[in-house]
Amino acid sequence: MVNVAILGYGTIGSGVKEVIETNNKKLVKHIGDDIRVKYVLDLRDFPGDPVEKILVHDYNEIVSDPQVDIVVEAMGGVEPAYTFVKQALEAGKSVATSNKALVAEKGAQLLKIAQDKNVNFQFEASVGGGIPIIRPLNCCLTADVIEEITGILNGTTNYMMTKMYFEGSEYADVLKEAQAKGYAEADPTADVEGYDACRKIAILTSLVAGQQVNFEHIHTEGISKITATDIKYAKAMGRAIKLLATSKKIGDSYMAIVAPRLLKEDHPLYGVNDVFNAVFVHGNMLGDGMFYGSGAGKLPTASAVVADVVELATNLNRHLYVEWDEKELELVDYKQSSS
Ligand code: HSE
Repeated sequence: MVNVAILGYGTIGSGVKEVIETNNKKLVKHIGDDIRVKYVLDLRDFPGDPVEKILVHDYNEIVSDPQVDIVVEAMGGVEPAYTFVKQALEAGKSVATSNKALVAEKGAQLLKIAQDKNVNFQFEASVGGGIPIIRPLNCCLTADVIEEITGILNGTTNYMMTKMYFEGSEYADVLKEAQAKGYAEADPTADVEGYDACRKIAILTSLVAGQQVNFEHIHTEGISKITATDIKYAKAMGRAIKLLATSKKIGDSYMAIVAPRLLKEDHPLYGVNDVFNAVFVHGNMLGDGMFYGSGAGKLPTASAVVADVVELATNLNRHLYVEWDEKELELVDYKQSSS
């Protein structure tokens, strides 16, 4: 029996439990063993919800239980998520997370602890929601030098830009709709000001560079200043406005930037609408590639987390190497690049 503990019973945490239960038969077949959620940690009580039977309020119950093999962190934010994940890894448990703030800031450190303890730290859902992008970069594209990544990495803002473009909707109304659909962060400032996309491109750049990228050094602009008039003019010019996160290899380093951009119809990301995310990748051997799919929301994101859980469950006694050194990469200033 593979025992999983979920930290945080919000949108993603409850989604992870739902995926493990709904698709249990398939997961068991793939892992070759039974899998269940043994604990859910949350500060709240959920009267009448079946989760009550496995709900705990004290993290020590989880970290000190030798039966727990895998911890899923779905709390969001850097603390206390970092402390909990570190304790889990140090106790010999593997961890899967959807938390981009945690991965962008502490990814290299947590991977190092995982390596020292011969366990694993996986974070597929931290970028692109349900789209496979972390594993492809680490696995299918390891033979390539990645020269460019350009992505629509935030579902909330893409949903908003799409609605404003096609329906002429007002900014405040579409933001409310995105929140109601469960796409937005607890504080949507992170979405609309580009901070969420910034952390995601920092993670992707760290992975392809094999070195820590400081997200605070990435020039970041969001969509909060875009008006209905801007969109009207863009449309009249045959262009759409999209929030893009870009990372380009320049010499031995990378230039990274997050900003709204005018896209012509022939751009590969022009037709990526609604909550969908897409990541365009150019490798020196691959040439061009695109990853496209549901970039936010409960079940798409939980599906990516549970795929990590399956990978962890099938590699319980083997460390999976990820190149991401703690030494910080000095980024090239975006003003010095032609992009
Ligand atoms: N708030 C994020 C988004 C959730 O809208 O893309 C997924 O990371």
